[in-house]
Amino acid sequence: MSEAVTLRRALTGADEYLSRRGIERARFEAELIFSQALGLSRIQLYMDLDHPLTAEERGRALESVERRGKREPLAYVLGEWGFRRLTLKTDARALVPRPETEILVERALTLIEQLEQPRVLDAGTGSGAIALAIADEHPGARVVALDSSAEALDLARENAAACGLEIELRQGDLRDEVEGEFDLVVSNPPYVLPEEIELLEPEVRDWEPREALVGVGVPEAVAERARELLVPGGWLAIELGEGQQAAYAALVGDLGYEAATITNDLTGRERVVVARWP
Ligand SMILES: C[S@@+](CC[C@H](N)C(=O)[O-])C[C@H]1O[C@@H](n2cnc3c(N)ncnc32)[C@H](O)[C@@H]1O
Repeated sequence: MSEAVTLRRALTGADEYLSRRGIERARFEAELIFSQALGLSRIQLYMDLDHPLTAEERGRALESVERRGKREPLAYVLGEWGFRRLTLKTDARALVPRPETEILVERALTLIEQLEQPRVLDAGTGSGAIALAIADEHPGARVVALDSSAEALDLARENAAACGLEIELRQGDLRDEVEGEFDLVVSNPPYVLPEEIELLEPEVRDWEPREALVGVGVPEAVAERARELLVPGGWLAIELGEGQQAAYAALVGDLGYEAATITNDLTGRERVVVARWP
């Protein structure tokens, strides 16, 4: 009979395997995968490194390690991901919520903090991350979450139910007519340029929905459409790709918005543009 493999040995093996496949934080990711497969915290893993893995535990972990080795995003492999105060279900139906987008939510929340029941539109909601985080952190907010992708909306619906939060989900193209009046239009639209897609990491390029990444003219359409949706004094808050902020701030000025400002993300890069509708 073959000797049972200890957690220590399996972790080392997974670390080496993932490193060979170009995963930068291979050891850390291996630990997250084993934590989930064994139902243990990372601290508990360290306290139990000599634990001999059962065939079932090993099989579960190795299946995830193999998926990750194919450069599937860790969030899809684990099936859940933290965003603000929420843990969201994550899979290939929508973009993985990013830390940069947490900054957008932070900024959006400051814009509506004085309002008791702000009406908010999340244009391009994906997993529902922005809409749900705002509903969670501003309990009076009435949030509409719009997306053209039926699959993404299914995921957002599942996330709303799992988080016990109420938002209105709508399928539609933000370039078409959108009903309602809003105090805030917030969006993390597709902002990757078609020529940039091949330069992206395989996790993004090969696994995340293309329509969530590339959408020529969609960021501009958000600002154009929001003019008809915002009440006087309402706000537009939008996340953009590196280097796109100054041109976008100029564009919204041309469209009639006021007081455009740019906010940096945690790495110090320009990220979010906010502007007020007069
Ligand atoms: C970059 S993802 C953002 C997802 C989510 N808000 C987040 O921050 O994680 C952009 C989303 O916009 C949606 N989308 C793209 N073009 C759209 C359009 N014209 N109308 C409505 N939604 C659109 C995509 O389906 C995708 O879910």
